[in-house]
Amino acid sequence: MNLIGISGALRKASTNTGLLRALKSLLPDGVGMEIVTLHGIPLFDEDVIAASGKPAVVTELADRIRAADGLIIATPEYQFSVPGVLKNATDWLSTCNHPFRWKRTGVVGASAGALAGTARAQYHLRQNLQALEAITMPRPEIMIVHNEEKFDGNGELTDGETRQRLGKWLKAYLDWVEKKP
Ligand SMILES: Cc1cc2nc3c(=O)[nH]c(=O)nc-3n(C[C@H](O)[C@H](O)[C@H](O)COP(=O)(O)O)c2cc1C
Repeated sequence: MNLIGISGALRKASTNTGLLRALKSLLPDGVGMEIVTLHGIPLFDEDVIAASGKPAVVTELADRIRAADGLIIATPEYQFSVPGVLKNATDWLSTCNHPFRWKRTGVVGASAGALAGTARAQYHLRQNLQALEAITMPRPEIMIVHNEEKFDGNGELTDGETRQRLGKWLKAYLDWVEKKP
């Protein structure tokens, strides 16, 4: 099984990219995951398409999503919603012949918020994914609050309890992708 993990954050020490790395480290044999960031995607502009077509960085990402058996998106929360870079990317990808259609998608996230870190962003992302025709795993959910206490300064997961929760989530996700209930 080949998965693709997309991080909604660009910074090098992103805890969301680190969350994907932690998930990757927990994968069983025979399952791989390519981790992708959204660097290099320009602002969505239909005039760009009219003048020069879709950027290769977008069409190549669409192809990689299409080819994957499953998709995991890790999103931070910015102003109670999805970061602009992630929304911008999904707007571009929506023009690329339905790369998300029926794609088994897990939504996860880490944020600084104390109570509902990433919850609001994750639910906004799920709404976008509905329009993109992805199928999102309903439960379990992973919302990592107070991410500054659970990741180090390089974005590496250091919290054992969170790693355990990720392991349970990952098992449920892989079963869901494999069995297609
Ligand atoms: C512009 C901006 C808006 C933010 N808004 C929220 C928010 O609404 N809720 C929240 O829990 N954290 C918010 N944060 C804090 C982020 O959760 C935190 O910076 C997080 O570490 C970003 O994810 P990353 O580690 O993957 O880069 C915000 C941060 C920035 C820079």
